[in-house]
Formats: sequence, structure tokens, C-alpha cells
Amino acid sequence: MCCFNTYTCVLSCLVLSCLLYLRICVHTSCILMYSLHVQHLFIGSEGTLGVVTKIALKLYPLPSYTVVAIAKLPSFTEVSKLLRSARGALGETLSAFEYMDRKSITALEDQYPHMVEKFSNSLFRNYSLVDKNGEDNAFVLLEASGSDSSLTDRVNQFLSTQLEANIVLDAVLAQDGQQEAELWKIREFIPVALAQMSRNTTVSGPFLFKYDISLPWLETERLVTAVEEYMSGQCGHAIIGFGVGVDTHSSRQYLQEFKSSVDYVVCTYCYGHAGDQNLHLNVILRLQEDISDNRKRQIKQSVKTDLEHAVLTETMKLNGSISAEHGMGQQKSHLLHQARNGAEVQMMKLIKTSLDPKCILNPGKVIPFPGTSCK
Ligand code: LAC
Ligand code: ZN
Repeated sequence: MCCFNTYTCVLSCLVLSCLLYLRICVHTSCILMYSLHVQHLFIGSEGTLGVVTKIALKLYPLPSYTVVAIAKLPSFTEVSKLLRSARGALGETLSAFEYMDRKSITALEDQYPHMVEKFSNSLFRNYSLVDKNGEDNAFVLLEASGSDSSLTDRVNQFLSTQLEANIVLDAVLAQDGQQEAELWKIREFIPVALAQMSRNTTVSGPFLFKYDISLPWLETERLVTAVEEYMSGQCGHAIIGFGVGVDTHSSRQYLQEFKSSVDYVVCTYCYGHAGDQNLHLNVILRLQEDISDNRKRQIKQSVKTDLEHAVLTETMKLNGSISAEHGMGQQKSHLLHQARNGAEVQMMKLIKTSLDPKCILNPGKVIPFPGTSCK
């Protein structure tokens, strides 16, 4: 069952769960409105409050019809417009609305050309890196599902209207289940392609920084532009980005052209679950190959520090959250104090110590206690 919102999906599907550590069972039901909603506390706690030993799920029949399409849009600005219209025209049948920027598609073409080739006549080959007005094309994968046999006509009609209004420039609609899977692969392999591209052969670890941000989708463009401006302006990094910087180049071209004066370039890639207001901002650091390993490590550290600062402060300014579907884990737990106010962190610590006084449940994750004790 596909839901836009992972959190809502978990809430609506979880009927009962038993938590070993607390020896309690949590029933999720609309009828139990008089009690505290303990299940809310556990969803997103990443195993720090209890161990789930048993769950019962509410299951729904698979939808009889699904329609999958990828649309090319003039720029990022049209993504929100398309989402709003899709919600109006397709209502509850709209089951996915996924955003991919032009650079993410370029990365996929670079690493897995065969995935894109079959759709290249209409959608992909015709895009330009930056069009005449300086705008980047944006791509949206849209899925509708339901029990009504007129669903394909409805989606076709919707896309035609959007083409006429120039919100959509081009679109491809899957003709069968195999094509649906192939269109989904385009979206799903973007993180894989980025991970491949960011491998560095001499210094260990990928040169890829991944952020999982939740904020109103209309603010996404502002966030990415602000992060890029901070990185290129205040910090002086060369950025190939969404709104600013050296965007008429690809990162390889740029490094080649400025071989004698530039050691590295930073490139942002955006994709994500627009329908869930969840942006995956990925940043690849591309280095000149002939610089020393020490210099590479130094650059990596400085880009990481500056990026973390930029993403955190700009997301907070826009009332967003620096963790979404992937949670805080241990990589982001040190940011909790900056992302939440003192009273909120104090309350989280109180809950944690009440339920897990010995601090044995997933220590070090989500809520930062120094060492392994809950002190
Ligand atoms: C995705 C994973 C990275 O959206 O969350 O592809
Ligand atoms: Zn995701």
C-alpha cells in the first residue's frame, strides 16, 4: 500500500504492537481517544525507547489500476504548481509524486545510460543543461492508483491540460506493468548513481553528503539556493548548483577548464518525495585527481563542516526539519541541540531515562548522551 506520507502510513496501518522492554501492547484505534497516544512516541524513536516484538497490520487490497508517468517541467517553480493541480484533479488516487532535478537525471544517464535511453526520444535527450532563460528542467514521477477503470483517461486528461498550460513540457506514460517498473527505476536508481559517482579511488569513503530534509515544498527552492549561496559566497567553495554558481559547466568540464587554479568543485543534486514535503539534498565533492590525499581529506572536512552549518541554519530559518524519513540515527544526533530547543531536548531525555533507565536501547542514537550512560 503506497502512502505519500510515511508517518501517516505507519500510523494508519499499525493496529497493535507489543513492546518487549515495557511489556506493554499499544493499540492504534480511533476509539481509544481518551488515553495518551503512546504509539506516537515510538514511531520515529528509532529503537531508543523499546523493542517491538509483535505487530499487527491493517491490510488493504492492492489497487486494481495504477498509472505511472514521468513529466518534464520547465523549472523547479512548476513542481509545486503541478502538485497542487494533481491533488485537485486526481484526488485520493494520487499515490506518488516524486521530484528529480536535471542534474540527478544527468547522473543517472552517466552511470546507467540504458535506463534512460528507452525514454530518450521524448523526455530526456531534449533537455538542455540550462535553457535559454537560465532555468533548469525539473522532472516529476507521478503515480495514480485506484479501483476505477477510467484512471488512465483521467491521468491522460490531466497531463494534456498541464501540457497546454506549459506547466509540463513533455511526458511519458507507462503502457504496461513493465514500463511502470522501468519508470520507477529511473527515480529509484538516482541515489545509487550518485553513490557510484562519488567514489574516490584514493581516499576511503564516498565524497557524498546526504541530507534528508522536511519542509513545505514551496520553500525548497529557497532552502537549496540559500545553502548554495552560503557555500559559494561566505565559504568560497566553487558550486555547480541549482540556483547559483558555475552552472553552465558540468563538474568534470569545470575541473578540466580550471585545472591549474581549482582543486575541487561542489555539486548539488536534489530529488525526493515532493508529495511528502521530503527533500533529499545530495552534495558531491569532485576533486582534481592529482592533488595529495592529505589535501583531499582537508577539503572533505571543510566542505562537510560548512555544509552542515548551512543546511542546519537555513532549514531552521524556514521552520523545516533536518531529519525526515531516515531519522536522526547517530550521524545527526549531535545536531539535536541546535535543531530543537532546550526544553524539548530535556523532555526527550526525561522520556528516554524513564523508559530506559540503564540506557541500553540503541545507545548513542537520536538523543545524544555522552558515552553509553544516560547522563
Ligand atoms: C530514496 C531514499 C534514499 O528516496 O530514501 O531514494
Ligand atoms: Zn527517500
